[in-house]
Amino acid sequence: MAKEIVLSGIRATGNLHLGNYYGALSKFVKMQEDYDSLFFIADLHALTTHPDPKTLHTNVKNIIAEYLAAGVDPDKATIFVQSDVPEISELYLLLNMHVGIGELMRTASFKDKARKALGIKTDKDEEDIEKEIIGNESNKRVNAGLLTYPTLMAVDILIQKANKVPVGKDQEQHLELTRRFARRFNSFYGVDLFPEPENFNFGGNAVKVPGLDGSGKMGKSEGNCIYLIDEEKVLRKKVMRAVTDEGPKVPNSPVSQPVENLFTLMELTSAPEVIQQYRDAYADCSIRYGDLKKQLAEDILKVTLPIRERILDIQNDDVLLARVIKQGADRARERAAKTLSEVREIMGIKKFY
Ligand code: TYM
Repeated sequence: MAKEIVLSGIRATGNLHLGNYYGALSKFVKMQEDYDSLFFIADLHALTTHPDPKTLHTNVKNIIAEYLAAGVDPDKATIFVQSDVPEISELYLLLNMHVGIGELMRTASFKDKARKALGIKTDKDEEDIEKEIIGNESNKRVNAGLLTYPTLMAVDILIQKANKVPVGKDQEQHLELTRRFARRFNSFYGVDLFPEPENFNFGGNAVKVPGLDGSGKMGKSEGNCIYLIDEEKVLRKKVMRAVTDEGPKVPNSPVSQPVENLFTLMELTSAPEVIQQYRDAYADCSIRYGDLKKQLAEDILKVTLPIRERILDIQNDDVLLARVIKQGADRARERAAKTLSEVREIMGIKKFY
């Protein structure tokens, strides 16, 4: 029986952090053993925020090195750069004909990015935000690429006919849209071309790795990240500075968000008995956050330091990186070209010569 197809990607916006690792990369490494796997660097998606061209190029290279360092194996999985597959850009145009502006404007990630770009406070209601985005004609900060971001992501997935897409919780709405677009295309043309892809987390729930600042998720734009490439000293310092509270005053107090975040990070990196020890210490008010942070830093370093060393080895091996990227591009293109030609045929775009 043919193996199920797995595809996932990470935007080329900077070094990879623990959120990327636990939400995506660590799953890539496990899934490549049992699935027909494709993992890529989304450099076109990064363009929505206008990165410096030199930095973009370096980021792509660094992330490939980080994939390899974390254990993605080019002999088991296809590793490629999105822009090396021009078929994606063509299918993006074709699929956009079946995507509504309204559904794109209602996407949480779009509203979030548009709000930030326009400096709109989050307490405004939906309609006000939409009016402000549409009404502000001179405002080019909210570009059309940002709006059609979910179409491009759907194309990445559909062009490879992927069944499973390992991503963090923040990407689930995009996956939902991808399924909707797949269904719509199939039913509009009466075909059974695209499978409906689903998230994958080895039977568990989608992951949301919190940041160190006591608030929401770990993210590059939030400045609250632990990077795989962080030096030991830097990493320890970041963890020791993580936001906590004054500590529990009465037994069995509810755990505040910032402290729960540290426990969540422990759940990802520490042994179950260690976590229990600190949970118990919290419950009986004997906990010392300094000790918890030291332990957490230690356990995170056990994961990141070996990866960091490999990144440093691989990062400057231009010959290896070029070979991996070229091999991946060839494989990914061949498969994408096949789907694109099917779509062209289905939509009536046929050659006359
Ligand atoms: P990106 O680059 O923002 O993030 C890459 C992956 O890391 C996960 N992630 C997290 N998971 C848990 N907790 C966090 N704090 C956290 N931060 C990031 C993301 O969920 C994601 O899995 N649109 C995508 C890139 C993309 C893509 C695709 C993914 C483009 N085309 C096709 C899958 C399939 C994105 O911006 O991810």
